[in-house]
Amino acid sequence: MQAPVGVFDSGLGGLTVVRALRRRMPRESIVYLGDTARVPYGTRSAATVCRYAEACARVLTAHGMKALVVACNTVSAVALEPLRAALDVPVIGVVEPGASAGVAAALRLRQAGGTPTVGVLGTEGTVRSGAYERAVRQVSPEVRVVTQAAPLLVPLVEEGWLEGDVPRLAVRRYVEPLIAKGASVLVLGCTHYPLLEPVIREVAEGLKGGPVCIVDSAEASADALAELLAARGIEGAATGQARLSLLATDLPATFSTSARRFLGAEVPDAVQIDITDRPSTLPPLR
Ligand code: DGL
Repeated sequence: MQAPVGVFDSGLGGLTVVRALRRRMPRESIVYLGDTARVPYGTRSAATVCRYAEACARVLTAHGMKALVVACNTVSAVALEPLRAALDVPVIGVVEPGASAGVAAALRLRQAGGTPTVGVLGTEGTVRSGAYERAVRQVSPEVRVVTQAAPLLVPLVEEGWLEGDVPRLAVRRYVEPLIAKGASVLVLGCTHYPLLEPVIREVAEGLKGGPVCIVDSAEASADALAELLAARGIEGAATGQARLSLLATDLPATFSTSARRFLGAEVPDAVQIDITDRPSTLPPLR
């Protein structure tokens, strides 16, 4: 099936998921929307995030998407079920795949007599929602979850400030409580954070005094999408030419430059689009 997969996030972060999707499913065309006019989502209320998510999904529906990947933990945490109810195409989020991968790693690293503990770094909205606690409990009630909101990390990534003292100090401030509570696995519960992975790893391992497993949900989400497309028989055709289209709601040139740095020089220019906000038609959040 030649229709594209729709993917969206508040900004650059979801490109970490696009990178994993392209590696795992090179035949799939992708339309990516970065809502750069309204980033960050993670500091906003669930109702506002839900409204923004609906508007993004509407744009991607108009591009004829055959499935939607919500490449944003904040949206996955608060708006996944309403999106599923409102859309005619299958919808995948990033929280469940990330939680499952975190549980698997914690059980693998379990120490005799210790409680396997997953630390989750996320936006304020994701942490407030309790979505990771719920998702982990569904997979394994014996794994403990500790969470930490890390509000400064998204602006650092959007700014391209990925190394040096400033990101190191900010990361330390957020990672320290998780390591102190016994986390041996850190789930990057925001799709922006994989861009800071080297700093997060260095700081976490320094604090722990040994290896820490860092989980990025992008690969697990790509596996979930591949499974879903195969189960429904809607994979991209073997002979088709896979395309990537980038849409941004503000500063498309800046967005294109970052996307190229991240996905490769052949990435096309991002096209600026306007999202007309209107009252939400999604059912109320649970
Ligand atoms: N990258 C998104 C997430 O995974 C949103 C970050 C933000 O806009 O605050 O939560």
